[in-house]
Amino acid sequence: MSLRKVKISAVEMFVPERILTNMDLEKMVETTNEWILERTGIKKRHIVEKGQAASDLAAEAIKKLCRQRGITPADLELIILPTVTPDMFFPSTACVTQEKIGASKAWGFDLSGACSGFIFALSVAEKYVRLGIHDKVVVVGSEIMSSIVDYTDRATCVLFGDGAGAVLLEPTDETDDEEVGIIETMCRTDGSGGRFLYMPGGGSLNPPSYETIDKKMHFIHQEGRQVFKFAVTEMADISQQILDKHNFKAADITLYVPHQANMRIIKACQDRLGFTDEQLIINIDQYGNTTSATIPICLYEAHLEGRIRKGDYVVLASFGAGFTWGATLLRWEI
Ligand code: UT7
Repeated sequence: MSLRKVKISAVEMFVPERILTNMDLEKMVETTNEWILERTGIKKRHIVEKGQAASDLAAEAIKKLCRQRGITPADLELIILPTVTPDMFFPSTACVTQEKIGASKAWGFDLSGACSGFIFALSVAEKYVRLGIHDKVVVVGSEIMSSIVDYTDRATCVLFGDGAGAVLLEPTDETDDEEVGIIETMCRTDGSGGRFLYMPGGGSLNPPSYETIDKKMHFIHQEGRQVFKFAVTEMADISQQILDKHNFKAADITLYVPHQANMRIIKACQDRLGFTDEQLIINIDQYGNTTSATIPICLYEAHLEGRIRKGDYVVLASFGAGFTWGATLLRWEI
């Protein structure tokens, strides 16, 4: 069986209208705009209204994606939805979204990869296209981080935002060029990092109870410094590995798209890998950390601003809870 080549054929995003600024947070917890800017690079984040769920953001992002590509949701065959903030445990948010957009032919499932969710999902999704099983697969990272953030904890509440980003994967037209579309994705997990970033309550280990609520177990818990250290090391390391494996130097890459968790993590990776500012996308200032949505949101903005064009080489890289991390080397085909 011959394997097909797979490209990202469309990219879109959707964020809720409401904005939470650093100044707003100054009124909520003991923090300052200066501290947040200097330590994280974040200026504002988008936050949903009560009642808006991950499926709502995903549905909007996919509808825009289909319009951009000139197709309808009924043309989609598979929806993979990485998220740590599903509408509910079950049915999956992919199922809820499928119904909302009328993607009657598509099947779908959620994927739990935290901040690496998009790269993990991309790695799964592309196989369905590469193997010839499906022709139109959506990966949509959608997160309502505000639903699991403790807005009395200054160490975490300044970091996260809500949003969704989606890509459409399709087979490429026949070409002799070896390097087309998605070239490789590397995925890694180290479960020993689980204790540094997690949400302990609500699952089978600690089912919801008055006690779990009292102990704030349904919120994000993070040891920021530990996560920071691993994030820089592993995200830079896997990016270098994927470059080396394909005999690329940093200068061969048009755009480096790192997960947006902290400006200082991004800058430290940039220094280690030797990318210039022109080769790096940063939009954490506008959205904060939207977990599985950061990378497709970056890709959307880079495409819109003409920072990536057909044939350009792009590296995506992520790090998140688990620990999970990953990198993708691809050629932009839109
Ligand atoms: O996407 C998932 C992966 N997550 C990440 O990659 C996040 C990685 N970690 C980080 O981004 C950073 O560690 C944080 C932004 C979370 C924290 O920055 P930091 O430079 O590591 O600060 P810290 O935790 O070492 O805290 C330094 C000080 C502490 O005060 P003391 O103990 O030195 O008196 C904190 O209590 O800053 C204090 N602090 C704050 N001060 C004002 C913590 N949060 C705040 C705040 N405003 N919002």
